[in-house]
Amino acid sequence: METRQGIATKEALDLQSVDQDLVQKMVYDALVWSSLHGLVVGDRSVQRSGKVPGVGLVHAPFALLPVSFPESHFREACELAPIFNELVDRVSLDGKFLQESLSRTKKVDPFTSRLLDIHSKMLELNKKEDIRLGLHRSDYMLDEQTKSLLQIEVNTISSSFSGLSCLVSELHRSLLIHYGERLGLDSKKVPGNSAVIQFAEAMAKAWTEYNNARALVLVVVQSEEHNIGGQVIAVVYFRAGYAPTDYPSESEWRARLLMEQSSAVKCPSISYHLAGTKKIQQELAKPNVLERFLDNKEDIAKVRKCFAGLWSLDDSENVSKAIENPELYVMKPQREGGGNNIYGEDVKETLLRLKKDGTDEDAAYILMQRIFPSVSLTFLMRDGICHKDHAISELGIYGAYLRIKEKVIMNEQSGYLMRTKVASSNEGGVAAGFAVLDSLYLT
Ligand SMILES: Nc1ncnc2c1ncn2[C@@H]1O[C@H](COP(=O)(O)OP(=O)(O)OP(=O)(O)O)[C@@H](O)[C@H]1O
Ligand SMILES: [Mg+2]
Repeated sequence: METRQGIATKEALDLQSVDQDLVQKMVYDALVWSSLHGLVVGDRSVQRSGKVPGVGLVHAPFALLPVSFPESHFREACELAPIFNELVDRVSLDGKFLQESLSRTKKVDPFTSRLLDIHSKMLELNKKEDIRLGLHRSDYMLDEQTKSLLQIEVNTISSSFSGLSCLVSELHRSLLIHYGERLGLDSKKVPGNSAVIQFAEAMAKAWTEYNNARALVLVVVQSEEHNIGGQVIAVVYFRAGYAPTDYPSESEWRARLLMEQSSAVKCPSISYHLAGTKKIQQELAKPNVLERFLDNKEDIAKVRKCFAGLWSLDDSENVSKAIENPELYVMKPQREGGGNNIYGEDVKETLLRLKKDGTDEDAAYILMQRIFPSVSLTFLMRDGICHKDHAISELGIYGAYLRIKEKVIMNEQSGYLMRTKVASSNEGGVAAGFAVLDSLYLT
């Protein structure tokens, strides 16, 4: 059923006022829709899940209805995507900047140190990457008090959920086509999302540019054998390789080095990977650093505007402030994949301990202003059960970038990911069980 043109739409939906019968109907339809359209993930409670295709699947955790989000801030985030794509590319070209910015971190963080070793080897070889492919995702929260869009971080490796995020947007549109009139919501206010198609297109273009019809695309995944003997690889996509646990032995490190040395297009290359670290994010936020990498003044101003407060731990003034008011800060090590950050009283304890120890261990972390988005009531769906709770949301904007020598073939915003989590939870992981996939309703 199509919505009628010009129906009265509310700025935001008041969930308290939604009729229980209607909620139950939407829950049922949403669960059926998820099964029919593949909005599913492996079910960890089923032993053979993930081993036998088609066995042990459950709907992905999702929000029943899209979260309200101001259109102007959504546009702002979308406009930033090509600028961040360019910034990552420019930063990646400055080997000295990457090595120097991470030099103290290298001493105390063995994982970052190994990545830097591979990067050094590539610098020694003076290896030119003619085809450069970036599939990134920049995450933001809307700070309630200042009404500003602030960046959480850019992910340059294994930017997840491009597939499922598109499905959640479709699910929400479909629910609003059917129930929008009764809810006073218009399905057209859920923006289209083609993240997965755009990422696939970028990868296919990189493969085409490699120009060998027999060459393969290699996808590096967790706990998988990589038997690539004798095959030509055009594109290596790292769905894994961002966490120390992805390198249980020397052989994984050798494989990473081998791939980096090969002529294949790496997504990401070691320099893109390092450009996405939290330490580099913090270095870029220092005065006059963006100016080294971007030429356009307006672009620089737009990027700077979305930077939250970011500090190195050798900034004693801000460390003291964080010890006084730890709830206003987040401490982050150089890790990806969620669950690694330090919040609240732990920030204070860790900072005091590091101060007392007086070692270089402080170089493993950065300090960040904690962002407080507005809290709203949400229906969260997990394991077929609908649960109403106060939640906050985080918007991710995907960006695809492809450059061949000096020619930029592709530099675009490529869809979005909205994640919503219970307001009391610090971390935002969907797989970890804290957050659900969501989409947005433009207001
Ligand atoms: N400055 C901040 N203010 C408030 N919440 C934050 C802040 N930084 C991080 N978070 C929360 O912690 C989560 C994880 O942070 P971050 O993205 O920096 O770590 P990560 O390990 O790289 O995660 P991911 O797997 O999403 O890339 C975010 O999704 C967000 O919910
Ligand atoms: Mg990350």
